[in-house]
Amino acid sequence: MAVSIIVAMTRDRVIGNKGTIPWHIREEAEHFRELTTGNTVIMGRNTWESLPEKFRPLPDRLNIIVSTSLGEQKGAIVCKTVSEAVVKAAYAGKGETFCIGGAQLYMAMLPMAEVMHVSWVKGNFAGDAHFPEIDFSQWEQKQTREYEKFTYVKYLRKRPSG
Ligand SMILES: NC(=O)c1ccc[n+]([C@@H]2O[C@H](COP(=O)([O-])OP(=O)(O)OC[C@H]3O[C@@H](n4cnc5c(N)ncnc54)[C@H](OP(=O)(O)O)[C@@H]3O)[C@@H](O)[C@H]2O)c1
Repeated sequence: MAVSIIVAMTRDRVIGNKGTIPWHIREEAEHFRELTTGNTVIMGRNTWESLPEKFRPLPDRLNIIVSTSLGEQKGAIVCKTVSEAVVKAAYAGKGETFCIGGAQLYMAMLPMAEVMHVSWVKGNFAGDAHFPEIDFSQWEQKQTREYEKFTYVKYLRKRPSG
């Protein structure tokens, strides 16, 4: 039940401000769409509610929301726990399973993630939502691509040797 994280953040690990994403980077949104389309996305309730109505559910992806309070949602599966969400994603078998945020979901799912797709956003943005601290000694940088407003880096979790 492998899980990948996908996130856009500043070097200070800012991911959001006042319930939204503090930047509008068309190329980054396109990059997110390309990587996640055809796959499964797991998100927290706040992230689900922050999506503009026309992108809810995110099209051509299996949408899973983790929430203890939300009722049924059209076009998405609601799970009460992260483990239930991961099991549902595995059984649905729709490609790669991505955790797409927000801060609480990243915190809960980072320990189980094997892959991180990080868009390092250039510049400084004020924010009240952060990605958890990353222990880079546990991650190997596999791929990097430069864009005008962000740098994409794919990290794989290091396997214990021996
Ligand atoms: N830059 C990026 O890549 C990126 C991506 C996504 C989001 N964001 C930003 O992140 C911010 C939102 O983050 P957030 O931390 O406030 O919200 P969030 O993680 O999206 O959602 C939090 C909610 O999810 C549910 N939840 C979280 N962990 C749970 C668990 N272990 N078990 C059961 N339910 C759980 C709870 O819902 P209930 O209260 O209903 O139980 C909780 O209130 C926004 O600013 C958003 O724009 C940024």
